Amino acid sequence: MNVPRVTVLISGRGSNLAALIDTERRGALGGHITTVASNRADAGGLAIAAANGIATRVVDHRDHAERDAFDHALAAVLDASEPDLVVLAGFMRILGPAFVGRYDGRMINVHPSLLPSYTGLHTHRRALADGVRIHGCTVHFVTGDVDHGPVIAQGAVPVHDDDDEAALAARVLEVEHRLLPAAVRAFCEGRLVIAGRRVCVNGQSIPAGTLEVPTPPNESVVPAKAGTQRLSSNVTGSPRTRGRPG
Ligand code: GRF
Repeated sequence: MNVPRVTVLISGRGSNLAALIDTERRGALGGHITTVASNRADAGGLAIAAANGIATRVVDHRDHAERDAFDHALAAVLDASEPDLVVLAGFMRILGPAFVGRYDGRMINVHPSLLPSYTGLHTHRRALADGVRIHGCTVHFVTGDVDHGPVIAQGAVPVHDDDDEAALAARVLEVEHRLLPAAVRAFCEGRLVIAGRRVCVNGQSIPAGTLEVPTPPNESVVPAKAGTQRLSSNVTGSPRTRGRPG
């Protein structure tokens, strides 16, 4: 059977991309990352991709006056990579309905909140301002309704009294780095079924926190953390840029 082809879209630092690459290296992704595309030429994740021999493409949104033109150019790049799955991993542009429809059922996103709470930007800051006790992240299918597609998996973290935005972002990001590769694997293995608003794995809803990628013994997998950017050595690209928190 052919290994599913995965194209990853990024806009920044690329720590989720690094987690995906690391998981593929360990033989646990179930797919092959062929291409990484970004709307920003200075996205740190592009260097990580290049350092790992993955083709990189840039479609700069500033080169396109209209959103449709940008979407069209991006779709051309994506189609050339012949993806079975498109992963938005810190991709910070809103995509139009035609683009989303083109990849319906085969495009997923990681969002730094427990959706449907805190759609959009600055999720950690808003969660802290609201005084919520539980925060987290969501991997979901992308639909035309931004940040509202069917939920594949969620991971929750506690909010501590002394958290600032960076501390909370780092705690959530660690979960993102486990959840997103696990969701990609489940997709690539054909285990995800969309039933209305619900996504099932092998006929069951995914209970929170149980969709994990096993780590082989004696293998160090160091997830990148916000602000520290510790990546396992075989994945790290040379330039280390910091992205903005979700
Ligand atoms: C992640 O928190 C993601 O959920 C949000 O932006 C951040 C991207 O981080 N959309 P990175 O570029 O993967 O390090």
